[in-house]
Amino acid sequence: MMDLKEYLQNKTVQIDRSLLALLPPSSAYPEIIHESVSYSIFAGGKRLRPILCLAGAEALGGDSSELLPVACALEMIHTYSLVHDDLPAMDDDDYRRGKPTNHKVFGEGIAVLAGDALLTLAFEVLAAYGMRVKEEKRSQVLAVIQEIARAAGAFGMIGGQAVDLQSEGKKIESATLEYIHRHKTGALFTAAVRAGALLSQATEHQLAALSRYAENFGLAFQITDDLLDIEGSAEVIGKPVGSDIRNEKVTYPSLYGLENTKRLAAETIEKAVEALSDLPGDAEPLRLLVQYLLKRDR
Ligand code: IPE
Ligand code: IPE
Ligand code: MG
Ligand code: MG
Ligand code: MG
Repeated sequence: MMDLKEYLQNKTVQIDRSLLALLPPSSAYPEIIHESVSYSIFAGGKRLRPILCLAGAEALGGDSSELLPVACALEMIHTYSLVHDDLPAMDDDDYRRGKPTNHKVFGEGIAVLAGDALLTLAFEVLAAYGMRVKEEKRSQVLAVIQEIARAAGAFGMIGGQAVDLQSEGKKIESATLEYIHRHKTGALFTAAVRAGALLSQATEHQLAALSRYAENFGLAFQITDDLLDIEGSAEVIGKPVGSDIRNEKVTYPSLYGLENTKRLAAETIEKAVEALSDLPGDAEPLRLLVQYLLKRDR
């Protein structure tokens, strides 16, 4: 059986190497913004979105190393979302990835700009990738850029974050909570897996199966994130626990209780695994990755 830990380590090394090559050096002028961007990118994230993009390609027998720029663009968008999510105007958190949050080190203004820089760099990297690929692949890359933009935007992650903020301190229904989770977190995971699949000549059927996998992955991921905010160790997860209660967020545990939430997470993970039954490549990494969510401590 495949060793997930080794797989994650291998991929993380590749992704980190590519990120280093894609980011401006901290010595470039104006140093402050490049330092701030590098600080958050290299603070020690799990790199799950880029890894899912690569694993999505592998599940179809595609060559994942070719997709590293796309994978890195996803990590840039994700990291920007964390820098902004931690700002005093949003969740007001002081720790992220085991270090003081970006605004604690560089100030709020630079943290806002570091997020902006990461988001724009992601699309510069994607466009540059599109210009390098063979002409017959270019329309696939355009489709991927459109999907990633939509997933990151107001009908995706930003929509989820907006409803998340608007719902603080309010009673919301389970459908609204599911909307928040599927958008603020699920949309980018889905775009990641679909990007890997779209660039690996997925059929409609394969794309639908991988989308089903990713949507359930994203929902289960945010449900377990809610659990870790209650039951996790701040030292291990690298961010504060109790942030959701302090901000009066409605979460899966607050709405359903801990035991029901764990059952829901397990059911959602099971649905993701079922979606992988009929793929031509190596779907083992995707299967082990989603199964790890229930056991994850960070
Ligand atoms: C945290 O994401 C934000 C959520 C969407 C729940 P991760 O838990 O993937 O954060 P990093 O990238 O490993 O720091
Ligand atoms: C954040 O959700 C989702 C994002 C798009 C950043 P949370 O606010 O629960 O993420 P954490 O717990 O701060 O990582
Ligand atoms: Mg938040
Ligand atoms: Mg937060
Ligand atoms: Mg959280």
